[in-house]
Amino acid sequence: MTLLTIDGTSKRYGQVQALDNICLDVTAGSRTAVVGPSGSGKTTLLRIIAGFEQPDSGRVTLNGELLADGPAAVPAHKRGIGIVAQEGALFPHLDVADNIGFGFARGTDNRDKRITDLLDMVELDRTMLKRRPHQLSGGQQQRVALARALGREPRLMLLDEPFSALDTGLRENMRKVVARVLQEAGITTILVTHDQAEALSFADQVAVLRDGRLVQAGSPQSLYLQPCDRETALFLGDAVLLPAIIRNGVADCALGKVAVDSDHQGKVEIMLRPEQIRVITDASDMPHRGRVVEVDFGGATCTVAVSLDGVALPPILIKTSSVALPASGDRVRLDISGKAHVFVR
Ligand SMILES: Nc1ncnc2c1ncn2[C@@H]1O[C@H](COP(=O)(O)OP(=O)(O)OP(=O)(O)O)[C@@H](O)[C@H]1O
Ligand SMILES: [Mg+2]
Repeated sequence: MTLLTIDGTSKRYGQVQALDNICLDVTAGSRTAVVGPSGSGKTTLLRIIAGFEQPDSGRVTLNGELLADGPAAVPAHKRGIGIVAQEGALFPHLDVADNIGFGFARGTDNRDKRITDLLDMVELDRTMLKRRPHQLSGGQQQRVALARALGREPRLMLLDEPFSALDTGLRENMRKVVARVLQEAGITTILVTHDQAEALSFADQVAVLRDGRLVQAGSPQSLYLQPCDRETALFLGDAVLLPAIIRNGVADCALGKVAVDSDHQGKVEIMLRPEQIRVITDASDMPHRGRVVEVDFGGATCTVAVSLDGVALPPILIKTSSVALPASGDRVRLDISGKAHVFVR
């Protein structure tokens, strides 16, 4: 069942078209990640859904209720939507307990218990209850903001880069905690993130914005493996792009013959993800071999640059593990697994 529908929504600030005719459906109980370069309209979209900003045109519907129809709108506090903003979300003059309890009135039954339950939910220690926001780390502040938003029992939770202040390990842990908390509470969630890996692992649906337009929305797998264009492909991860000619479902390219995911014929560009390519030391002088021109040792993931024989292309960069890493100057071949994705020019 669809909980949220965004239908033809546009928003302009002076010369900037922040959002251009966005259409997006969000299923009840699901997790959607919104990604896109800085300035692509992610925060504007969340603010329109939350009701802090009115669209110039288009409609926002939540559970059948029309929240915005062009500039006509239901006020933010009547929408039942929680938001954890990109920055500065807490009241600096209130301690953690009062920040979390802000949503429910002083005299509410079990107020203290509800506050501590929410604190437990986001895995913060109870000794923090009397601290002010400036006495917490960035990550702890974001957890308090999340607890406060959860306390209002929203129908929809909007998270604008909630993990951006955290280092990698903590970030992953926090992402799992938040995903679990929201799932257990059955709250539909929209997450904005700069981190593509975070988007792909967190979400059921990923939506890619560029220059205010929705360029693609779909499952993480479909976006990663079948991006609609090369920009989206490169935005979501590393990719090897090669010119090719397809005949009968097989692409002929600098790597030899590669199976493809399209029945298109003729000249195209194909895309492979680096994990589809294996570098194998091979000193033979068969066709489609190459030479390693550079090896960048990066710990768990190393990068090997291979210049293919007789091909006027820049060296192909392949991410590989450090096991059996070839050396610069080695003759190699590149083995492909799976199918290449086809961009029709
Ligand atoms: N209140 C405003 N007044 C004028 N321009 C604005 C306003 N809010 C946003 N913009 C512009 O609209 C565009 C989209 O901004 P938005 O904040 O939605 O981007 P974003 O995708 O969230 O970027 P980031 O990843 O940097 O947070 C930008 O060009 C921005 O400068
Ligand atoms: Mg933003």
